[in-house]
Amino acid sequence: MNSVLVASNRGPVSFTVSDDGVLTMKRGGGGLVSGLSGVAKDYGVLWVCAALSDGDRSAVRQSPSGRLDQAGYDTGALRMLDIPPATFHRAYNAVANSTLWFVNHLLYDIPNAPIFGSRFQREWESYRDYNRAFALALAEEAGHGARVMVQDYHLTLTPAMLRAERPDLRIAHFSHTPWAPPEYFSLLPDAVAREVLEGILAADHAGFLTERWAAAFMDCCERLLGAQVDRAGRTVAHGGRTTRVGVHALGVDGEALWARACEPDVESHMAALRDEVGDRKLIVRIDRTELSKNIVRGLLAYREFLAAHPEWHGRVIHLAFAYPSRHDLPEYREYTASVQRCAQEIEDEYATEDWNPLILNVNDDYPRSLAAYRLADVLLVNPIRDGMNLVAKEGPVLSPRCALVLSREAGAAAELGAHALVVNPYDVIDTAGALHRALVMPEDERRRRRDSLEAAATALPPQKWLSAQLDALNYDFS
Ligand code: F6P
Repeated sequence: MNSVLVASNRGPVSFTVSDDGVLTMKRGGGGLVSGLSGVAKDYGVLWVCAALSDGDRSAVRQSPSGRLDQAGYDTGALRMLDIPPATFHRAYNAVANSTLWFVNHLLYDIPNAPIFGSRFQREWESYRDYNRAFALALAEEAGHGARVMVQDYHLTLTPAMLRAERPDLRIAHFSHTPWAPPEYFSLLPDAVAREVLEGILAADHAGFLTERWAAAFMDCCERLLGAQVDRAGRTVAHGGRTTRVGVHALGVDGEALWARACEPDVESHMAALRDEVGDRKLIVRIDRTELSKNIVRGLLAYREFLAAHPEWHGRVIHLAFAYPSRHDLPEYREYTASVQRCAQEIEDEYATEDWNPLILNVNDDYPRSLAAYRLADVLLVNPIRDGMNLVAKEGPVLSPRCALVLSREAGAAAELGAHALVVNPYDVIDTAGALHRALVMPEDERRRRRDSLEAAATALPPQKWLSAQLDALNYDFS
């Protein structure tokens, strides 16, 4: 039986299946997965995740009890859950991504959404079923007294369901997203808001990436549940139990990132980019095409910058990588189209025969992203709201001279803000000004700031993040 378990929607690998039924395995994407993948194997963790695609489902069906490692895949101990596709779709797309994500990132167009009607009730029922599938699998796999780390907004109900099955376990929940303030969180139907909070409070330890998100969670518990909150001691007492609230920032493993960024595929992308960019300055952004990442305002800021600074025409290129994300949701498809429209307008307005001011790339390519980091003079990270944002941390590790323009609403601003050019993400003039200041920053200041950014970004690598949470579960909760 297993003594340390992790549960998350997305797992460390995913599969594609070809027409003739051949499965190909690749590394899963996203901040949580990149953070945990490197370390889960070292700690002998059993990872429980959901099958996300047809390829994943085929792999699960060929593995004993969904244990991919036992079917011979080099994944570390991994159990993938084959949750019925319709249930999964409602839980993942309708509830997790279209509701809880929107609430915690403050993304609603309030006059029109959300609307919680009978359709949502069905979706919520599926979210419960999906959370229960995780709770039952964890209950089956966990050894006596094992430590279980449940990840993110997809799985807010799992801690309570798991505790009901297995009171002997030590359970942590970790939110990789921001948390909404009570007045926004209470857009949720009252019973749903309570179920989410109580689901997490059934854990012994509720973890967040920054003080700000932890404080918002405690505010919600106090206002919506009437829980007793000790902010200084970071505890929430409710329903006869006390949950400790922890803040664990997540950083990058600098050495591993460097090792990957020096591989030949990255070097050849660097050579191609150098040819394309020449001796011009490079402003880079790398994001999933995610509503919270604020890509359109980032492009509008670049446009303002070009309008205000004609002296830079022909001397700078903005390389914007906006990789596909959540295309099952219409809002995301529309957002991708707006990004493309805005990029086209900039090109139409400013491109000349020998200068393309903007290169937008919408196809995911990890080695090319690493190459872009290495060549960046300026890195633009301007989310509306973000749990942490690992791009802001990876860039300064890989670029010897990049200046960081960073949204004050990114969790990373708590650690990096002092060394970055911090902006209001809604103010595109402010952001344009910061792009300019970043480009003209004197070399010694640029290097000094970059060195401090690198130190802050690598201070809490995933190894430390994981072990801090495991230590938190060793605390005597009795
Ligand atoms: O920000 C929290 C997080 O879990 C990230 O790790 C990940 O990038 C994202 O949310 C989930 O994305 P996806 O829906 O693509 O799994």
